[in-house]
Amino acid sequence: MPESDRLSGRTAVVTGAAGGIGAALAAELGVRGMSVVLADIDEIGVRRTAAELQDRGVRALGYGVDVADPGSVAELAAASYEEFGSVELLCNNAGVLLFGPVADATIGDWRWLSSVNVEGMLNCLHAFLPRMSRASGWRHVMNTASTHAFLPDTATSALYSATKHAVVGVTLGLRSELADDGIGVTLLCPGQAATRILDAQRNRPDGFGRRAREPFGTGVIPLAIEPHDVARAAVDGILRNEPLVFALPEFTRDTFRNQVEEMWRLADDALGARAETPYPAGD
Ligand SMILES: NC(=O)c1ccc[n+]([C@@H]2O[C@H](COP(=O)([O-])OP(=O)(O)OC[C@H]3O[C@@H](n4cnc5c(N)ncnc54)[C@H](O)[C@@H]3O)[C@@H](O)[C@H]2O)c1
Repeated sequence: MPESDRLSGRTAVVTGAAGGIGAALAAELGVRGMSVVLADIDEIGVRRTAAELQDRGVRALGYGVDVADPGSVAELAAASYEEFGSVELLCNNAGVLLFGPVADATIGDWRWLSSVNVEGMLNCLHAFLPRMSRASGWRHVMNTASTHAFLPDTATSALYSATKHAVVGVTLGLRSELADDGIGVTLLCPGQAATRILDAQRNRPDGFGRRAREPFGTGVIPLAIEPHDVARAAVDGILRNEPLVFALPEFTRDTFRNQVEEMWRLADDALGARAETPYPAGD
């Protein structure tokens, strides 16, 4: 089947789809012929975004869902299958961000970040994968991590980066696990996209304690790649079953590559140093 026909008539679920990258993903998938279930903790926002897609002729439904709550995600899965009969593409995209030093962060900060970025992804995998695995034909999972999972120095983003490291680990493992079932898996790593992620605490539930001060302000990220460009790269990557898709502004590419190389250089140095460690010869 030609790549371009793969999406048409099929159903995608996109979390974190009220705005930003998730809304752009939903739009890109809808324009390419998929029915789309949009899920977000911002129920009013996600219903509005879904309505805008419907106005553009896309079969779209918006659901208020807290991905950190397994019950809420189970309801999303039930509603998606009831409405559309099947789900071929799951985009675990909902995510939240906090910058700032580890020493200043509360356990509530960490629990909130990990509840959305890590447990949210796992809750969705548990809710959708069993039925996706039993189905046949083209199926795919995409998880959104971040370039922050590949940086050698994550000062000011340590906790966020830690959660995105978890997304990388789960996604790469899943890619091997699901290969035999014929389900493709892609890791999306955006960097510096023009969204409201710096104001992620706008949707922080009270149960995680006081809101942290955001050191870089809460405006839309400047000098950034547009969400629809991230979405286009992501969907192209999904169609080619790419393991990794990076989507970042062109002018930051070289810096990012240098940072990734620095990571490998550190590993290389450490391995070299170990080889030179004078272990006593067995006597
Ligand atoms: N914008 C960037 O520069 C950038 C860079 C790297 C990675 N990312 C990742 O991209 C993804 C999308 O972020 P974005 O930049 O579009 O930000 P965004 O804030 O515009 O979108 C995130 C969405 O997730 C939703 N959300 C938050 N908590 C939720 C929960 N518990 N349940 C369901 N939905 C919830 C928010 O309401 C919001 O609509 C995230 O995983 C983020 O970590 C973004």
